[in-house]
Amino acid sequence: MIYIKTPEEIELTRKACDLCSRTLGEVARWVAPGVTTRRLDTIAREFILDNGGKPACLGYHGFPGTLCIEVNETVVHGFPSGYTLKEGDIVGTDCVVELNGFHGDSCYTFAVGEIDPKTERLLDITFESLYVGIEMAVAGNRVGDISNAVQRFCESNGYSVVREMCGHGIGRSMHEDPEVPNYGRRGTGPVLHDGMLICIEPMINLGSKNIVIESNGWECRTRDRKPSAHYEHTILINGDEPEILTTFDYIEAALEQKA
Ligand code: MF3
Ligand code: CO
Repeated sequence: MIYIKTPEEIELTRKACDLCSRTLGEVARWVAPGVTTRRLDTIAREFILDNGGKPACLGYHGFPGTLCIEVNETVVHGFPSGYTLKEGDIVGTDCVVELNGFHGDSCYTFAVGEIDPKTERLLDITFESLYVGIEMAVAGNRVGDISNAVQRFCESNGYSVVREMCGHGIGRSMHEDPEVPNYGRRGTGPVLHDGMLICIEPMINLGSKNIVIESNGWECRTRDRKPSAHYEHTILINGDEPEILTTFDYIEAALEQKA
């Protein structure tokens, strides 16, 4: 069941998305060699609570963090831990905020200090693929048009698309219909209508597309242990101009200040 949101619901989601984006902006200030992923998680949790929101992942089906932490070969759903980030790592921080009953969801993969050029290109292409997908998120298109655009862009650049994990609708629940895969055929899947809210989130591997899920049932890693990247925005379907409700502006401002 796909829910079309009212203007009031969209306005509440805008606010949740802004808090989610500002939270990742706060996290961005702290990403550096020597910092534990648990520290990043604490910073995110406190920032959300201080601003009247709820860390939606924390306790979700038992998930133990505010952020999903995705170091190097971790694709999604990594646990915050005592792991200390080191120069050359990449770390994805995936954050969902609930505010006034609605959710905002965004993810950004950071380079920790200098990273090798192959991994840097993986980040660049994955980042760009998110916007390639968003361009297709126009009313009248189908979900498969987004999926196909992301897949073609990533595969033509030599990367592989994780199959088991998808983007999704969002609203009163963190995950709603429709599923938004990062691979698929044009002209297939549900039609996009004005007022739909979806999360587009390419999870793209440097090596093969295969993943393994750890015995804790959550943490998802590449089978070949090569790096994986992940970026995500929450999007409003709005005629032929998709509105990106989350933003990386706060992150980019924080990274510029550090540089
Ligand atoms: N933020 C993830 C997504 O993009 C989901 C988090 S799963 C959770 O869908 F269990 F950690 F909440
Ligand atoms: Co999501």
